[in-house]
Amino acid sequence: MLRVYALSLVIIAAVAPSAAAFKYSKRANVTDVLDYVNPLIGSQKGGNVFAGATLPYGMAKAVADVDGENTGGFSTDGSNITGFSILHDSGTGGNPSLGNFPIFPQICSGDDINTCKFPIGARAAHYKKDSVVAKPGYFGVTLENGIAADMAVSEHAALFRFNFSGSAAQNGSTDPLILLDLTDLWQSRQNASVTVEAAEGEESGRIKGNGTFLPSFGAGSYVAYFCLDLSGGAIKESGVWVNDRAGSEPKSIYITRGFNLFYLQGGGFVRFKGPISGPVSARMGVSFISTDQACSNAEKEIPGPDYDFNALIKTGKDAWREKLAPVSIEPGNADDNLLTSFWSAVYRTMISPQDFTGENPDWQSSEPYFDSFYCIWDMWRVQLPFLTIADPVQQSRIVRSLLDIYKHRGWLPDCSMSTCKGWTQGGSDADNVLVDAYVKNLTGIDWEIAYEAIVNDAENEPLEWSIEGRGGLASWKRLNYIPYLDFDPNGFGTNSRSISRTLEYAYNDFNLATLAKGLGKDTYTKYLARAANWQNIFKADQTSTINGVDTGFKGFFQPKYLNGTWGYQDPIACSPLAGFCSLTSNPSETFESSAWEYMFFVPHDIRKIVELLGGEETFIKRLDFFHTSGLADIGNEPVFLTVYMPHYAGRPGLSAKRVRDYIPSRFNATLPGLPGNDDSGAMASFLLFSTIGLFPNPGQNVYLIAPPFFESVSVTNALTNKTATIRNVNYNNSTGTGGNGTSNAFIQSAKLNGEPWTKSWIGHEFFTEGGLLELVVGNEESEWGTKEEDRPPSMSVGEAEMLRW
Ligand SMILES: *[C@@H]1O[C@H](CO)[C@@H](O)[C@H](O)[C@H]1NC(C)=O
Ligand SMILES: *[C@@H]1O[C@H](CO)[C@@H](O)[C@H](O)[C@H]1NC(C)=O
Ligand SMILES: *[C@@H]1O[C@H](CO)[C@@H](O)[C@H](O)[C@H]1NC(C)=O
Ligand SMILES: *[C@@H]1O[C@H](CO)[C@@H](O)[C@H](O)[C@H]1NC(C)=O
Ligand SMILES: *[C@@H]1O[C@H](CO)[C@@H](O)[C@H](O)[C@H]1NC(C)=O
Ligand SMILES: *[C@@H]1O[C@H](CO)[C@@H](O)[C@H](O)[C@H]1NC(C)=O
Ligand SMILES: *[C@@H]1O[C@H](CO)[C@@H](O)[C@H](O)[C@H]1NC(C)=O
Ligand SMILES: *[C@@H]1O[C@H](CO)[C@@H](O)[C@H](O)[C@H]1NC(C)=O
Ligand SMILES: *[C@@H]1O[C@H](CO)[C@@H](O)[C@H](O)[C@H]1NC(C)=O
Ligand SMILES: *[C@@H]1O[C@H](CO)[C@@H](O)[C@H](O)[C@H]1NC(C)=O
Ligand SMILES: *[C@@H]1O[C@H](CO)[C@@H](O)[C@H](O)[C@H]1NC(C)=O
Ligand SMILES: *[C@@H]1O[C@H](CO)[C@@H](O)[C@H](O)[C@H]1NC(C)=O
Repeated sequence: MLRVYALSLVIIAAVAPSAAAFKYSKRANVTDVLDYVNPLIGSQKGGNVFAGATLPYGMAKAVADVDGENTGGFSTDGSNITGFSILHDSGTGGNPSLGNFPIFPQICSGDDINTCKFPIGARAAHYKKDSVVAKPGYFGVTLENGIAADMAVSEHAALFRFNFSGSAAQNGSTDPLILLDLTDLWQSRQNASVTVEAAEGEESGRIKGNGTFLPSFGAGSYVAYFCLDLSGGAIKESGVWVNDRAGSEPKSIYITRGFNLFYLQGGGFVRFKGPISGPVSARMGVSFISTDQACSNAEKEIPGPDYDFNALIKTGKDAWREKLAPVSIEPGNADDNLLTSFWSAVYRTMISPQDFTGENPDWQSSEPYFDSFYCIWDMWRVQLPFLTIADPVQQSRIVRSLLDIYKHRGWLPDCSMSTCKGWTQGGSDADNVLVDAYVKNLTGIDWEIAYEAIVNDAENEPLEWSIEGRGGLASWKRLNYIPYLDFDPNGFGTNSRSISRTLEYAYNDFNLATLAKGLGKDTYTKYLARAANWQNIFKADQTSTINGVDTGFKGFFQPKYLNGTWGYQDPIACSPLAGFCSLTSNPSETFESSAWEYMFFVPHDIRKIVELLGGEETFIKRLDFFHTSGLADIGNEPVFLTVYMPHYAGRPGLSAKRVRDYIPSRFNATLPGLPGNDDSGAMASFLLFSTIGLFPNPGQNVYLIAPPFFESVSVTNALTNKTATIRNVNYNNSTGTGGNGTSNAFIQSAKLNGEPWTKSWIGHEFFTEGGLLELVVGNEESEWGTKEEDRPPSMSVGEAEMLRW
């Protein structure tokens, strides 16, 4: 998440389109799993999901754009629709992303073209609240003036239908107009061109062009190209518009930034002779290569002139059904709310990253090219690990695309969007993704290149580490921590986050050690030593108060100067109790989370944390306090693993209990049903791993076991065609979300393929080799998983087990 508590979060109108409202009810008799997917979950209160039509990982993402909460284009916040566009990101924070070249339908009040409303503010129109229909591969909405729009997509193109028959004639005019605006959602356009080819009397016209825009969270600029074909009636007139005036000559314009950065508005338009009997069809192709490619994408993928809209919808639905097919559940008594949360979450994990193969403007390659890693800091912990179990073939292509980016740019990406480099948030997070793929045996990946790429992150400091690699490497190597107010003349980045960067770099180095060991390289000992660097910023006597009252807990990570003297950051700073910290808003020594929360961020040595914090009992008390005092931010990724940390202290039942405090109360099927930005599909994946009952510690061959919320869950691995099933024995609906939330949520004993399984964790072999994991559940915590030898591995007590490659 890169969250900005901006205006948009304040405009929270409690309007729930009734077509989309999901009630808490018993399970409906539904046979098509897509009926449980509601793309509108997270379309309010900062979930920022993309709610429109897209194929799995598709580049074309068509939806209505609004002027309220519009980070993902559309929101059910009741704001006005300003256009319909086909490039979007999903779940991101900060600036709205993409939304380039919106089109907009209207019937103008007079014959004169200048009675039409061109600028955004003038044309914005409310939609009918209960007209919103969002389904996998389809989106529809009706404006208050009666104009209905619906849309479906292919990989790089979209087909819109604008139905004017429900709208009233305006002052006698029935002539429908479609305008195209040379803008994007956050008005970052630097310059753009449009050309209109639509002769009077013809049955179809084309508007095409290009524009240079800025990435919404990154450096540089990008050029996007479009090709729009309009048909449905005889053309009355066409031309271009600038600000609030339009004319039929000239047929093309070039537009720049404008005087003193005043944002010029302009574009093209086509007007048909009304009334027309059917809908106006608008087929838009997009490309990052050229206008010709935008046109050919559209022509190839959505052939005309007689478009088959229903076939396009069907292709989309089939593609989604196929993607969801590897996962199946026996719901038991789970209600519609949970089922809808679940299937919608599976769906949302495959909206982004986006497959831009063939659309890379920067180099040619036969490798896949993915974009919209927005950002890997958000994605490495649960989303990409979820794809590793549900769609390993695609995850392997995603990893290959990261390596191809390394080969051609010299650096792994940390964040990327619209073909640009995004800002780094912490460590070199792609390292974690590569090593997670390695320990889980993804195929088709060149591990020597992966090793080289990660060593590059670990050893070489880039000039601009705000967009790639790591900063402060000289200090990292010399002092073994990232100093507070580091002196770093070797490279440049936002010189903050010394605590969280130390912790993240340590985990990156642990992952590098894992890969090095696996590949038989003796460098692994060096990186393993660096993986312990986090201990250098642990201040054992640091206390923490809230409103002047001592919390009673001692020992926190603290900033440390170059000279070894401790600095100070209030341990509750950057927590929900104290206010948000990000790269530019309130930059601090911890990124987007407090020292309280980062105290638990040592994924490779949680047992050492347990020890440093005073042993199991204190550790459990501390976790309890953290989760119940308002310090934990369940809406941002660093918190996720803390929910499952009792496993490491021999109390797996407490993890199962804790997660039931958060699901469904903070993750549910309502429209504001996500606790934070979905961040591509991170919130979705937290819910998925939690309800499936196997939670990953990525980079390690470990899933922490807890009872699934359903009677059973099965996942079929596409690489091996083997099915892994995890099943509750004595399941009742309280195992899921009913009752007091804890009954029958505790594992009493377990069997793997009929043999006793005493460990509280299991490796990825469970997914690749398949099998049946049976969990006998009961009302109270049991001895299961509590023994020393049954706890998940940690570096300080089980290095050999962790590095057994
Ligand atoms: C669900 O649908 C199936 C097949 O149409 C039917 O046999 C069954 O009785 C239905 N169950 C309920 C609870 O309505
Ligand atoms: C929607 O448009 C109306 C004018 O039609 C305006 O008053 C209102 O502020 C707009 N809403 C938002 C959220 O921008
Ligand atoms: C209709 O046209 C008249 C004359 O041009 C104008 O005064 C009036 O405002 C128009 N009405 C609407 C609803 O646009
Ligand atoms: C267009 O809208 C009208 C009524 O508003 C409806 O009767 C008609 O079926 C719609 N056409 C299409 C193609 O959806
Ligand atoms: C458009 O803007 C970009 C970015 O500022 C610039 O590099 C490019 O030269 C401009 N194009 C034209 C034709 O001015
Ligand atoms: C955009 O289109 C204009 C008009 O066709 C053309 O002159 C210009 O070179 C194009 N810009 C890019 C970056 O392709
Ligand atoms: C170390 O550096 C910090 C920051 O410059 C300074 O405040 C502190 O006094 C120094 N400590 C020593 C022992 O010199
Ligand atoms: C659903 O989740 C949202 C976001 O976390 C939360 O605000 C809301 O209270 C939850 N609703 C229910 C009924 O649990
Ligand atoms: C996977 O297994 C199923 C059921 O055993 C079988 O029908 C299918 O053909 C297999 N698919 C592949 C690709 O091996
Ligand atoms: C759980 O099951 C009991 C008994 O079958 C039932 O009374 C209760 O309504 C169920 N609760 C939920 C949330 O489904
Ligand atoms: C929850 O319900 C179960 C079964 O009714 C009971 O054994 C258990 O003590 C309850 N737990 C709490 C925390 O109330
Ligand atoms: C990966 O492959 C190796 C060698 O075939 C095997 O020993 C190991 O169990 C596999 N790991 C997983 C997670 O499938």
